[in-house]
Amino acid sequence: MEKTIIITGGAGFIGSHVVRLFVTKYPNYKIVNVDKLTYAGNLENLADIDRQPNYLFEKADITDAAGIKAVFDKHCPDGVIHLAAESHVDRSISNPMEFIMTNIVGTVTLLNAARACWDNALEGKRFYHVSTDEVYGSLGAEGFFTEKTAYDPRSPYSASKASSDHLVRAYHHTFGLPVTLSNCSNNYGPNHFPEKLIPLSINNIKNNKPIPIYGKGENVRDWLYVLDHARAIDTIFHHGRNGETYNIGGNNEWTNIDLIRLLCRIMDKKLHRENGTSEKLITFVKDRAGHDLRYAIDSTKLQRELGWKPSLQFEEGLEKTVDWYLANEKWLENVVNGGYQQYYQKQYGNN
Ligand code: NAD
Ligand code: DAU
Repeated sequence: MEKTIIITGGAGFIGSHVVRLFVTKYPNYKIVNVDKLTYAGNLENLADIDRQPNYLFEKADITDAAGIKAVFDKHCPDGVIHLAAESHVDRSISNPMEFIMTNIVGTVTLLNAARACWDNALEGKRFYHVSTDEVYGSLGAEGFFTEKTAYDPRSPYSASKASSDHLVRAYHHTFGLPVTLSNCSNNYGPNHFPEKLIPLSINNIKNNKPIPIYGKGENVRDWLYVLDHARAIDTIFHHGRNGETYNIGGNNEWTNIDLIRLLCRIMDKKLHRENGTSEKLITFVKDRAGHDLRYAIDSTKLQRELGWKPSLQFEEGLEKTVDWYLANEKWLENVVNGGYQQYYQKQYGNN
């Protein structure tokens, strides 16, 4: 094998698309998926590639230093692409400590393991930390986040991700660890866990349940198709400059209410319902505590330096996403069982 790459969080939403892209595009790389399989980790996401000879799964918790050392000793990776995280803002409001442990302590555990394993033989090595635009805080009606925007995280989730970003940079400056970072906007697409806005709404529309919109639905997010994020990670992992950060975004801003109205129109068409049927399910509920108003990414640096750009128009991507959920009812059923149900009840009551 030409290279061995550890991908953390490979059983999650974005991680599974990154694993699939690397396993299929680089048959000469050994891809080791390191994941604890929390409620968000689902190996069904990788059922189509898990028998490929260049793919391996290691069940491990990134906060477990001994377990992570054993994985590094066994595989001696040339690169790490670190996606494992607690990723849902609402959960970080009800249980911040999980976020501190996984997102901060887990990241430092991986940095230590990489440092020890590479032992100053750093040529050709790379630690790639995948982060979020939420570290930059909240925008007003104008402006965009650039790589130079000052950090201003406002939720326990974004504060834990900001902290992990700082630690990755600190290991670069202090110990010379070769790193790259990226901060991406909201992703959507297949395999998205149905606690997040788009898959939750698809599931509820399908089942004729209310669509819960926080506050007035005026908050703005910049949506990117998950495969475009995976392609950006591939580009940055191979061609990004050491020590640099790249913003990744869709240049595709939507208020939540407009997005949900578009989704309702698509679902009415796909489910052969009269236009306007699904919109009636929209229900305004209590706002998220500390709800950030607007995120919008300026990805000029990535586009100019490395030639990446988003490939899909939003309407096309959203239709593809709806098609995937309607064709993968079993996946959705399996995910919606058990722990997810209890969480859902706590978050939304009987809505
Ligand atoms: P996800 O919640 O779908 O998946 C997270 C994965 O990490 C799961 O497979 C889970 O089992 C694993 N994991 C969690 N804790 C772990 C631990 N202690 N040890 C090992 N594995 C553990 O998340 P996602 O939406 O795919 O996000 C992946 C990464 O991308 C995260 O770092 C997130 O901050 C970042 N990100 C996400 C988005 C987005 O829109 N979803 C946007 C920008 C950045
Ligand atoms: O910006 C990148 C971030 O995007 C990632 O770092 C996070 O991991 C990811 O979860 C996502 O965070 P958001 O909080 O923006 O995503 P979420 O899908 O939870 O919410 C999107 C918007 O929709 C937000 O304004 C809150 C609102 N919302 C969400 C839910 C779950 C609702 O109105 N109703 C809901 O039920």
